[in-house]
Amino acid sequence: MTVESVTLVLVRRGGPGGGNLQSFAMTQSPAMTRAPLIVLEDICRTYRLGGQSLRVLDHACLTLDAGERCAIVGASGSGKSTLLHLLGLLDRPESGRFLFAGRDMARASADERAVTRNRRIGFVFQSFHLLPRLSALDNVALPLRYRGQSRAQARRQARFQLQRVGLSDRAEYRPADLSGGQCQRVAIARALAGEPSVILADEPTGNLDGATAKEIMDALLRLNETHGLTLVVVTHDEGLARRLGRRLRVRDGRVEEEHG
Ligand SMILES: Nc1ncnc2c1ncn2[C@@H]1O[C@H](COP(=O)(O)OP(=O)(O)OP(=O)(O)O)[C@@H](O)[C@H]1O
Ligand SMILES: [Mg+2]
Repeated sequence: MTVESVTLVLVRRGGPGGGNLQSFAMTQSPAMTRAPLIVLEDICRTYRLGGQSLRVLDHACLTLDAGERCAIVGASGSGKSTLLHLLGLLDRPESGRFLFAGRDMARASADERAVTRNRRIGFVFQSFHLLPRLSALDNVALPLRYRGQSRAQARRQARFQLQRVGLSDRAEYRPADLSGGQCQRVAIARALAGEPSVILADEPTGNLDGATAKEIMDALLRLNETHGLTLVVVTHDEGLARRLGRRLRVRDGRVEEEHG
């Protein structure tokens, strides 16, 4: 599956959504959520291409608590995106255990994985992946429409999410008329629209200048601090990685805890 196709697959497979962000905030407050949300045990992932095989993850292990935040760092090609795709249920490991909220997602049915992905996980990508012909508001509303919400309901929720990322006054703008930072904030609003418990971001500031990158990180950190969203950010930027606190390095197929 290409990254470009991910967003639509994510939203098309889901069941009906429900609730609102206030109820989400009540049930996910940071103080209440210190328990493992994600446990990877001995995860292996090998790509096979043209008769060659490349084992990118080799008995990788990782535990993330609900409400935690961390950076994933590592050399280009080390397997950071591969790891993130596994965490986001966009891909399946060939072996190992992957517990998400206590359920083994490595062995779960495609339907259970799709529902979990749809209801619990929000994605943010380096290149935004907004639909160019839709307004900011409709980009954010689209996943909710696929979940079965009425147009009015979806747009109301989308407006609320745009307000949370400070973009109420750009709701009717199309991506081409927004700055890079604004586009990324729309993408964050879209990721939030389904009220996920975890946000997975793959180099979300990679296409942005320093000041805008800081603004996007501020927005992501605020979501972690005020709503207890579990936050996993792949980044090459040491400064951003430091702000996240916990730092995990993908190296030689493993995930290593990095201190200092
Ligand atoms: N679908 C695929 N088929 C074959 N090989 C792949 C596939 N996806 C990734 N790879 C290879 O797996 C390795 C890890 O790729 P991955 O995209 O996870 O790295 P990364 O750490 O995210 O790199 P970057 O920092 O450049 O984004 C690379 O060598 C890449 O070429
Ligand atoms: Mg990558």
